[in-house]
Formats: sequence, structure tokens, C-alpha cells
Amino acid sequence: KRKVILDVDTGVDDALGILLAVKSGQFDVLGITTVNGNVSLDQATANTCKILQLLGAEAAIPVVRGSDRPLLRPHYFEHRIHGADGLGGALRDMEVRQGAAEGFGPDYIVDRVREYPGEVTLIMTAPLTNLALALLKYPGLVHDVKEVVVMGGVVAGFGNVTPTAEYNMYVDPEAAKLVLRAGFPSLTLVGLDVTRRALLRDEHIAALGETPIGRYVKHSTADYMQRYSERNGVRACALHDPLAVGVAFAREVVTTKPYYVDVETRSELCDGQTVCDFQNRLGQKPNVQVCTDVDADAFLRLFVQTLSR
Ligand code: BDR
Ligand code: CA
Repeated sequence: KRKVILDVDTGVDDALGILLAVKSGQFDVLGITTVNGNVSLDQATANTCKILQLLGAEAAIPVVRGSDRPLLRPHYFEHRIHGADGLGGALRDMEVRQGAAEGFGPDYIVDRVREYPGEVTLIMTAPLTNLALALLKYPGLVHDVKEVVVMGGVVAGFGNVTPTAEYNMYVDPEAAKLVLRAGFPSLTLVGLDVTRRALLRDEHIAALGETPIGRYVKHSTADYMQRYSERNGVRACALHDPLAVGVAFAREVVTTKPYYVDVETRSELCDGQTVCDFQNRLGQKPNVQVCTDVDADAFLRLFVQTLSR
């Protein structure tokens, strides 16, 4: 099984990504590191512990707290989308039996990658603060890690925070810049261009059935779907983070192309914008495998089948 660490700011779709990762049976999940993002670090950590408890996996998978703030910028939460607690209230009454493990997320990433050089895939579905801190501590991570998959950015489309910026990039663009420029031999970017097409709809939720996970998905996505339909005219929950998880074990659901990508950090209007050099105007070597297309039906089938198991 492929060794992975998930890095999350557990809101609605991160939670669905964790469910997909664990239920897939494809991964040896070495741990889940949490970070400030959609919700505070404390809330993201509690939410992550609850999701593992829902899966009965809390004893097997350690949750490790990471950074409680972006590298340089103030917090920017996303309660409008993910609800006050980040999970649309779905696990409000669940008591956390097993809290976070000892340690600090960025250190945990460094330690596990050094323990298993060349074997660990990092699946990042949150602002990139923890990975940036890990890189600052141990630059050799770049070559010791097997692969990095990031949900973040939008290369040919519009943002979901500002007109140009995707949330994970917007919250900590300095961290994103460190990651993009680090020189990872295998870094895949799963951006809004494609995740916006991976839409969970009522029929998929119905297909999950009346299981504890089916009921959880229905409850946690209810408000999200309502807000999504107000803005986008379609009742759906975009599977941003689950698609990044899916790419890590079923790459055939997406098309990728190598490009040079950087992120804006010094603009009043465009901070957090990912800039993809489609025509190689900057003459740089590609640093990223950019997802340019997704077979949304195939991914949704995989998602529903996996969560129904
Ligand atoms: C990303 O931002 C967060 O709100 C989601 O969890 C996802 O990681 C989508 O832009
Ligand atoms: Ca996320």
C-alpha cells in the first residue's frame, strides 16, 4: 500500500477526502496533519478526530496539529461555506474520544518522510503552511518525498475567494510560493478548473444509502449545497479535496500536463492567483503537473462506490 500523509483544514470537503482515503483501502495513512484554514486549527483538529472516529480509525491513524496561522498573513476562515463548525453541524454532538497525538505537523511530515525515504506521498488539501514549514526545516524533503498532490489554485478560470484566487492559495500564498519553487520532482496541482466539475449531487448522496457514512454525508453537505446553488445555480457539493485524494490512487480520472506555475504574492488585486505559463513565456522548466481535465462521471462513480463499501 502507498504510504500517505494527508494535510487538512477539515471543512466539509476535506472530511469527504479523508473518508475516501481511508475507505479506499489503497493507502497506509501514516498520519493526518492539521492546519488553520477553513476553520481554526483547534476546530480542524477536532473535526479530523471526529471523522476518524466515524470510520472507527481513530486508534490506527494519528492526527497531528500543525500551524495555527499562515506564515505571514492574518487568518482568513471560510465559515460561510463550511458552517460554523466546518462540518455543516453534522457531528456537533460527537464527543472526541481520542484527541491529537503529540508533536507538530511540519515536524511529523519531516520525520515520516525521513523514516521512509522515497515512499511517502503527501496529499495537501489545505493552505500549504505545514509543508512550507517542513521544507524550511528540512530542504532535503524535496527529494525524499515520493510525490506531492495539492488541491489548490486555478489556472484557467476564476477564483473562489477573489476574482482570481482559489482559497488554499489565497490564505497562505507565501507558503504556496515556497512549495511551488522548491523543486519537487513530482508535484501535481488539482485546481478549481477541474474540481468544480466533480460535483456531488442529490442522486449520489441517495446512492450512498442510509448507512452512518451516507447519513453523515447528507447532513454535512446540506447547507453547503444550498449555498452552492445560490451562487452557481446548481445544487451540488464540489469535491475539491476528494479529487486530490482520488488523483493519488486513481490518476486515470484526470488529465495532467507539465507547466511552470507560480503564485502572486504582491498584488493588491490578485494575491493568491496561480499563474500558469501555458506558452512558456518565462522560459522556466515545468515545476508542476497541472490537472487540465477530469472524467467527472468516473470519479463520482469511484467516490460513491468507495464510500458505500
Ligand atoms: C479549497 O478551499 C477549501 O475551502 C476547501 O476545503 C478546499 O480545500 C477549495 O478552494
Ligand atoms: Ca480543504
